[in-house]
Amino acid sequence: MNVLLVAGARPNFMKIAPLYRESRRYPDVRCRIVHTGQHYDYVMSQAFFEDLELPAPDFFLEAGSGSHAHQTAKIMVAFEEVCEREHPDLVVVVGDVNSTLACGIVAKKLWILLAHVEAGLRSFDRRMPEEINRLVTDAVSDLFFVTEERAVENLVREGKLEEQVHQVGNVMIDNLHHQLERLNRDDQTRFPSFELKKRLGDYAFLTLHRPSNVDSREVFQGIVKAVDRISEEMDILFPVHPRTRETMSRFDVRFSDRVHLLPPLGFRESLFLWKDARVVLTDSGGLQEETTALSIPCVTIRENTERPITVEVGSNVLAGTETGKILDAYGQSLKRAESGSAVPPLWDGRAAERIWRVLVGAGG
Ligand code: UD1
Repeated sequence: MNVLLVAGARPNFMKIAPLYRESRRYPDVRCRIVHTGQHYDYVMSQAFFEDLELPAPDFFLEAGSGSHAHQTAKIMVAFEEVCEREHPDLVVVVGDVNSTLACGIVAKKLWILLAHVEAGLRSFDRRMPEEINRLVTDAVSDLFFVTEERAVENLVREGKLEEQVHQVGNVMIDNLHHQLERLNRDDQTRFPSFELKKRLGDYAFLTLHRPSNVDSREVFQGIVKAVDRISEEMDILFPVHPRTRETMSRFDVRFSDRVHLLPPLGFRESLFLWKDARVVLTDSGGLQEETTALSIPCVTIRENTERPITVEVGSNVLAGTETGKILDAYGQSLKRAESGSAVPPLWDGRAAERIWRVLVGAGG
């Protein structure tokens, strides 16, 4: 079976790593990695391939940044050429970034079997580019691998047949367990943030990159106010995404001294920091899930989440984006942490194993 496994942006790399590793247990599967080049800086891309033990991609499409249409179109043209040359039996796309949508459409128009890993999640907010990517990718996919019950319900409501939908757990969590084990064996003193972490008592870990949060001056400043207030209680470690770095300088945004601005981090250094945080403040999808798997309190700085299970099991509090609401959610989150939280069903590190069992049956 000739398989192309597609990744383009940072959160995709964590999802393809366990899928790629597991594919190697099947001698009849030839699984090759397509990197669209949506993310391209060393710290956003290659550093992750190295950290996650991924081999260099077999195909690199060099899409780069641009408007949504520009970026999506570039990926589509380049991926179509790869598919026409390589005749894959199966294309696997993951997550909800522009690369997921672009490659999904191309594969299906060439009548190639298409599997979507992390299908069915819905924020019901169509102003989010990822929501459009999720809807369109799921509209054309043949096989749906889902992380939580609500995603099954969404897909069935949208007309998918139950036999197309497989609740398998979460490949993000496969990767998390694998990397946590490696981290524990690792020389942690090599991380540039090692000394800083050692110096701090309780601290929070912050990530922020959603266009709806950082591309609007007013919203961004409201978030900064809340973060500064929280920093009166504990230090805050904040690796800054390139998009956020750019708007910070455009809007002349400044944080208090106890907010430590860091460069974008590799997967393991980031894990090294957030796993011991008292609380994680984020607008990322992946971190909502990863903190849930390790029962770390998480405050999600967004109006909605496509990952409701993280709220239901008690680790995640959905804050909204206004100063007062973020502060309320922060207080609630620390209080909730005392009663602990559960881990969702099947988030046990074996999702990739379940996925390949289905794929080999479908495409073989
Ligand atoms: C993309 C995904 C988002 C994901 C995020 C994780 C879409 C629609 N969005 O958002 O779902 O959560 O990745 O990071 O696919 N840039 C660099 N270096 C890079 C890549 C980007 O400097 O290697 C800068 C460029 O100025 C670019 C901007 O970041 O214009 C945004 O990059 P882009 O890939 O368009 O979206 P993200 O905000 O990263």
